[in-house]
Parts: sequence; structure tokens; C-alpha cells
Amino acid sequence: MGFDSVSASTKPTQIPTQEEDPSSPCASLLSFNTAPHHKNTATSVIFSSLILVACIALSAASAFALLLFSSSSAPRTGASFASLQTTSRPLTKLNRPVVLLISSDGFRFGYQFKTHTPNIHRLIANGTEAETGLIPVFPSLTFPNHYSIVTGLYPAYHGIINNHFDDPKTGEVFTMASHEPKWWLGEPLWETVANHGLKAAAYFWAGSEVHKGSWTCPQDFCMVYNGSVPFDERVDTVLSYFDLPTSEIPVFMALYFEDPDHQGHKVGPDDPEINEAVAGIDRMIGKLIDGLEKRGVFEDVTIIMVGDHGMVGTCDKKLIFLDDLAPWIDIPADWVQSYTPLLAIRPPPGFAPSDVVAKMNEGLQSGKVQNGKNLKMYLKEKLPSRLHYAASARIPPIIGMVDEGYTVEQKGTKRQECGGAHGYDNALFSMRTIFIGHGPQFARGRKVPSFENVQIYNLVTSILNIQGAPNNGSVSFPSAVLLPDPHKF
Ligand SMILES: *[C@@H]1O[C@H](CO)[C@@H](O)[C@H](O)[C@H]1NC(C)=O
Ligand SMILES: *[C@@H]1O[C@H](CO)[C@@H](O)[C@H](O)[C@H]1NC(C)=O
Ligand SMILES: *[C@@H]1O[C@H](CO)[C@@H](O)[C@H](O)[C@H]1NC(C)=O
Ligand SMILES: [Zn+2]
Repeated sequence: MGFDSVSASTKPTQIPTQEEDPSSPCASLLSFNTAPHHKNTATSVIFSSLILVACIALSAASAFALLLFSSSSAPRTGASFASLQTTSRPLTKLNRPVVLLISSDGFRFGYQFKTHTPNIHRLIANGTEAETGLIPVFPSLTFPNHYSIVTGLYPAYHGIINNHFDDPKTGEVFTMASHEPKWWLGEPLWETVANHGLKAAAYFWAGSEVHKGSWTCPQDFCMVYNGSVPFDERVDTVLSYFDLPTSEIPVFMALYFEDPDHQGHKVGPDDPEINEAVAGIDRMIGKLIDGLEKRGVFEDVTIIMVGDHGMVGTCDKKLIFLDDLAPWIDIPADWVQSYTPLLAIRPPPGFAPSDVVAKMNEGLQSGKVQNGKNLKMYLKEKLPSRLHYAASARIPPIIGMVDEGYTVEQKGTKRQECGGAHGYDNALFSMRTIFIGHGPQFARGRKVPSFENVQIYNLVTSILNIQGAPNNGSVSFPSAVLLPDPHKF
């Protein structure tokens, strides 16, 4: 779901598309360590399935990595890979590091191989890439993830636990247009930067319009969300910041594009319409690189390109209807905070959540509910701890884990069920997005294993050489991924 959907609908309009092959050998690929296994399958596959394409890239990259290791004596330790560079490159024009954080909504890992993306590949070739993609936080939705990227916190701790939710204490409703500081916990990067007396800028990012700490969403450096603003205009504005006197250039800039999420929902991840949207994003990256090169700062500026989550096809009658559970328990629509892929239920007082969970699971497991086995209900405290989705009163007590590509609805409708969705378990490969870092502290041509987006906050504060707020990223992550800066102490 992109920023454009301010109506906060959880049910995107959908039209038919192809579904990807769930039996794909890579469908279960979850971590970098399983990659070399796929090496031999790479050559003969037709480039029709996104997952297969991702596999091929993965295999090629793994083969490359193996070559690299066999030809050098560098030990393969933990998350770090061999690199020819040992320290960061000095700045030549700017007087301090500048980080430009770019998000392309719904840029599923693998999209970069679907079509010609010369500019993105230029960043990859001379930068550091998460070889098997960036792992979103759960739920793999737009607002929770964008805010995790800039705070380093899991949604339970930054407060944006869904794209829309109710505050159980006050009954107030959060939507993607809510900018009151009370909703937005944690310390986003623009606030951290402002708290250090430095300048930041944000061209549309979840939470950027919220006044927090020293951050006041300053005019001309913080844009009020308007999804109709052409991407070119956004890029031109960001580039214009580099025409300011050096001391006035914001040291942190965030830039957001709604594509290709928008197309992914409509047609699913395998449709040619995605290729066009991806090519459009690549053109914007090209325009940025050109603009920075013309100003002589491309090699000085740190570009971090990410997405918020991936995308998976939803089709083939993979539907689950809550009304089918009526023989076991009635789940009225007003108990349901969101349906799909994040099923979140808050029963009224008088109904014990554990009872509701037990009855729902009994029905789902009975074999009498269509696709019932593809939904499992949990008390939030009993969710797998890796999801970190419990420690907030805003999270409803009952959460359903929906299998990949399945959709939960109250009851059957005549709506077309095919399209694309995200919000599923963040361990699914289809939910992964991209991470590319290019700049003085990123080694050229380096691949690092996948990591969760909560690591990015510490990465940025480390590059900017400022003290960040406490968060859920690991303190040692920046030194595992960045080139050491000999000028830092
Ligand atoms: C990578 O950087 C080197 C050194 O600045 C440059 O010569 C080369 O053209 C760059 N490669 C790409 C693909 O941009
Ligand atoms: C949103 O941006 C479009 C395109 O720049 C513009 O025409 C429109 O007036 C803007 N809407 C608002 C409410 O500012
Ligand atoms: C995440 O970070 C917050 C803020 O430092 C902390 O209170 C919380 O315990 C952390 N949670 C996890 C799971 O690390
Ligand atoms: Zn979306």
C-alpha cells in the first residue's frame, strides 16, 4: 500500500494476473546460506518467473563470491565479505558526509533483474548490496516499514503498528494522514540530525510531517504529502539542495517514490506493467546520478536505495472467509481491525481472546473451512518472537498469520481476487526488497548477506558520525558493512 492510499483501504482493487509457481525451487529460499545449491539450475530457466530470476541473480552472485574467496585468502567471517578497499574514500567537494535515503515502495527483491536498469546497476556495481535483499519488519506494510527504516525500531516500539489502527485507550483512529506526534514514537533520522544542530530534508516519508524534538518539518525542506507531484519534480528539488552554500546542504535527505507498489497491487509482481514502473524508477536514479555528477558531488554523496517490502501474487481462489467460522465462533466485522494479509482482531470486553483464538483455530483446522489450514490464529504474545509484534497496547490481542498469497475476507464477494499484496510474514522471500549503498564508506562491488531494515538507522548515524537514539539495530552492524573511516575517532 502506498502513501497514495490515504483512504487506508486494506483491500486493493485487483485485476487478473499470472500467479507465480509456488513449487519454484527458490520459493522457500530464506537465507543467503542456501544459495549455492541453486547454481546449476540457473542457465536453462526461462525468465518468466520473478523468483527464478531472483534465483539466477543469486546464483551468479554466489558463484562470483566463491570465486572471490577462492582467489584471495581473506577469511569469510560472519556478515563481512572480502573487499579490495580497506578504508573509506575521502570527501573531495563536500565538507561533511551527506546521506540521501531513497525508497521505492514495493520494490520486491529481484525486480532489478526483470528489466534493463542501468542506473540501479551502476549503484550496485560500485556500491554495497544486500545480496539476497533487505528484510522488512513484520507486518510487511508501508507505514510500519518506512518508519522502522528511519527509527531503527520494530513497529511495536515506534508505534506505527499498521497503516491504520485504533488506540484502544482513547478510541482514536490512526490513518496514514495522522501527523500528531503522539502516534509517532521513537526518534526518526531527521529528528536525530536536527537535534545535533544539523539540517535534514524529507521529500515524502512516513512520519516526516510530524513535528518532533528539534524537527519542525521546515518549509522547502519537508514536503506535505501529495502523491500527484511528478517524480521528476521530487528529484529536481533534492538536487537543488546541492546548489546551496556547502554549510546549508542538508546532511540527511529522504526521498520517496510510490512505484512500483501501486502497479504491484493492481497486476501482481509478474506483469509487464511492473517492468515499466521499475524502468521509471531507474530513470529517476539516473537523473539523480546525472545531477550529482554535474555538481561534482556524486562520489561524495552517500546514496542508500531501499524499498519497504516486496510483493506477491494473490490469485487462484486463495481466499479465507471469516463467516465460514460461524459454526465455531461468530467474528463480527467490528472486531476486525484489519483483514489481510495482517488479520488483527480485538474482541470487545467479555470475550476472552484466548477463547476466540482456540475456537477460530478449531474451525480453521477442521478441514471444513475453505483454505482454513492457510490461516493460523495467535494471541499476540504467542506469535514467534522473531516477529517482535506484541509489546504495544496498540497491537490487537489476536493476530492471524496468513500463508503467502492468501487473502482473508469477511465473506465472499464478486470482487476480482487477482492482483498483488504484501503484509505477510517478513521471513517470506517474496516480501524482501532491495538495499544498495553507494558512497565513500561503501566498498565498491561488495555483497553482504540479507539483514533487517532496523539496521539502517545505525548505518546512517554512523556515516554522519553523530550519536543516534537507542534502537533495535545492532551496534556492531555499521562496522560490519561500512569501510572504516580513518578520520573518525
Ligand atoms: C565505478 O567507479 C570507478 C571509479 O570511480 C569508475 O571508473 C567506473 O566508471 C564506475 N563504474 C560504474 C559502472 O559506474
Ligand atoms: C498536488 O500536486 C499536483 C501536481 O504538482 C498539483 O497540481 C496539485 O495542486 C497539488 N495538490 C495540492 C493539494 O497541493
Ligand atoms: C527495541 O528498542 C527499544 C528502544 O531501545 C527497547 O525498549 C526494546 O526493548 C527493544 N526491543 C527489542 C526486541 O530489542
Ligand atoms: Zn502496498
